[in-house]
Amino acid sequence: MSLLKPTLFISLVLSANVLAEQLQVSSPDGKLTVTISDEHDRTEYWVDYQQQRIILPSPLGLEFKQQGQFGDGFKITGKHTDKAKLTWTQPWGERKQITDNHNELAVELAEQDRGMFTVRFRVFNDGIGFRYEVPKQKGLDQVDVIDEDTEFVIPDSNKATAWWIPSRAFNRYEYVYNTTTLDKVGRSHTPFTFKLDSGVHMSIHEAALVDWAAMTLEPQRAGELKADLTPWSDGILVKTQTPFKSSWRTVQVSPDAKGLLNSDLILNLNEPNKLGDVSWVEPGKYVGIWWGMHIKENTWGSGPKHGATTSETKRYMDFAADNGFAGVLVEGWNIGWDGDWFNNGDVFSFTESYPDFDLPAVTAYGLKKNVRLIGHHETSGNVTNYDNQMADAYDLYEKNGVTMVKTGYVADAGDIKRIDENGLVRHEWHDGQFMVGEYLRSVKEAAKRHISINTHEPVKDTGLRRTYPNWISREGARGQEFNAWGTPPNPPEHTTILPYTRMLAGPMDFTPGIFDMSFNGLDGENRPRTTLTKQLALYVVLYSPIQMAADLPRNYLKHPDAFQFIKDVPTDWENSRAIAGEVGDYVVFARQQRDADDWFVGALTDENARTVDISLDFLEPGKRYEAQIYRDGDKADWLTNPYDYVIEKKSVTSGDKLSLKMAKSGGTAIRFKAL
Ligand code: NOJ
Ligand code: CA
Repeated sequence: MSLLKPTLFISLVLSANVLAEQLQVSSPDGKLTVTISDEHDRTEYWVDYQQQRIILPSPLGLEFKQQGQFGDGFKITGKHTDKAKLTWTQPWGERKQITDNHNELAVELAEQDRGMFTVRFRVFNDGIGFRYEVPKQKGLDQVDVIDEDTEFVIPDSNKATAWWIPSRAFNRYEYVYNTTTLDKVGRSHTPFTFKLDSGVHMSIHEAALVDWAAMTLEPQRAGELKADLTPWSDGILVKTQTPFKSSWRTVQVSPDAKGLLNSDLILNLNEPNKLGDVSWVEPGKYVGIWWGMHIKENTWGSGPKHGATTSETKRYMDFAADNGFAGVLVEGWNIGWDGDWFNNGDVFSFTESYPDFDLPAVTAYGLKKNVRLIGHHETSGNVTNYDNQMADAYDLYEKNGVTMVKTGYVADAGDIKRIDENGLVRHEWHDGQFMVGEYLRSVKEAAKRHISINTHEPVKDTGLRRTYPNWISREGARGQEFNAWGTPPNPPEHTTILPYTRMLAGPMDFTPGIFDMSFNGLDGENRPRTTLTKQLALYVVLYSPIQMAADLPRNYLKHPDAFQFIKDVPTDWENSRAIAGEVGDYVVFARQQRDADDWFVGALTDENARTVDISLDFLEPGKRYEAQIYRDGDKADWLTNPYDYVIEKKSVTSGDKLSLKMAKSGGTAIRFKAL
């Protein structure tokens, strides 16, 4: 790992002789090369992959309010190289062992009168990362960043296909994905995934977003994507002081779609665990008083349909204990939900329950059955109100044995309410520097009390779970709830795009497992647009260390045979491998249970029925497994016949092949039980 300290650069003489005009660094396998150049009076870089230029010369630089632009006219005055080849262990995750194998090049750039900065590149076999590092120097102390000049210029953009959602738009990250040629994209969030005409797949994102603003992408000329940092309410992008560094800009690169899914690049660019022993962070499955509110059978607020009552919570805890679930999420337990909660986060109390909810009683009841209450804090985006109560709120949960809290920041994008130092109301974005700090503050405060956080309406994930393993999951895309009330509900292809886009960032609390498709009638507009077995496949495909069984208990009791898969599927893995797929069409994942021999496969398809043949070569050679296959029946079709499924058993070994036949918006879920 890098042993370089920022102080090394401070001592650099600004008028140093020019070392080079172009510097290069390649991946360990030699296939990927980044070049950085100070020619043409600007700092720029480009990327080549197997004799193909995949990023054309693109500018680098930062612009400061008081000190002007850093980049144009700067000269390369120094370099440091380094490399790493190591493995590290995840406390929980898609795989236990992660390999970090990269070459590093830190390039120092200076301009006599203006100052100096470093761009640090790391090149892996599966992509690149780079970040800006600005040391302490004369004239540069407090800094307001007003622009980031980084661009990603993509060749032949009219022949490249991109999958993207709009940024700086009211619904945060919760949009149906657009599929367009890359020259037709709008301002977009990351991960921003695209496929070049040659078939090379790439995804632009960032890693280790701490004390910086999220990077979104703004198209300039066709194919030119410019870093577009989300501003504070006063228009400044980042407020900082030297020395500082940006988050890593990342570009994952793969010859095919599935390769993107097997990349650990984002995690590798994050700092190691800062929390020490995190055995208190518990992956697992949960049920909850939740879907009933979304389909309007219950209410969050008080009254005859109030969901979060003591007796209802106990009933859920019984169900959880009977079926092996570790937790019960309860929303709507605290004062503040009555009236227009969406628009009034000021009145939420995070310590006072409604009279019909007895927190100590339900937690004590649960603990006797080995079931924990999962806490819930909806802030409606009023973060000052939450901040003021955060310590007391987490203390209360800790005292009652609650080890996981789902937080929520329901507010239109740009409408986070903050009271500033002068008592004035400010409205911030969910992904600006202020909120980046705020979400992390919640995670760190929670960690002090051994509480894990599942953030809804979050800032996007950038791999911080490596550093703070109690940041256990988050939302940050359209989840299952859109099938209850979204306009439109999630289209059949939604979950064939998520793995290649949103999920590259990290775990998602999608909340799969809706069995009753007919709460509005089968011909109702709002319902999951999937077959039942596709709901099962989601548990394997959409990785999260915590997974909800989102439907009402009575709906699981109607399909006990299919429910068995949800009971069996783990949420923590020894290993994971994407074995087939195309963005927007289908995906197949195989995952091995953590510290166990069983394997699981999840496969799902878009609106088209399809058959995918897979080899079982991921299984341990020489071992026999019972494949418990949950598949679409011959008449299954998400629209007309979502409940037609077949469960069958086969004895298999690693030498066998399976043909996965999926209905329109169908799926297959398999448990390979080691014999
Ligand atoms: C939005 C969250 O995504 C959802 O899960 C939750 O039920 C509501 N907010 C209420 O907090
Ligand atoms: Ca498709």
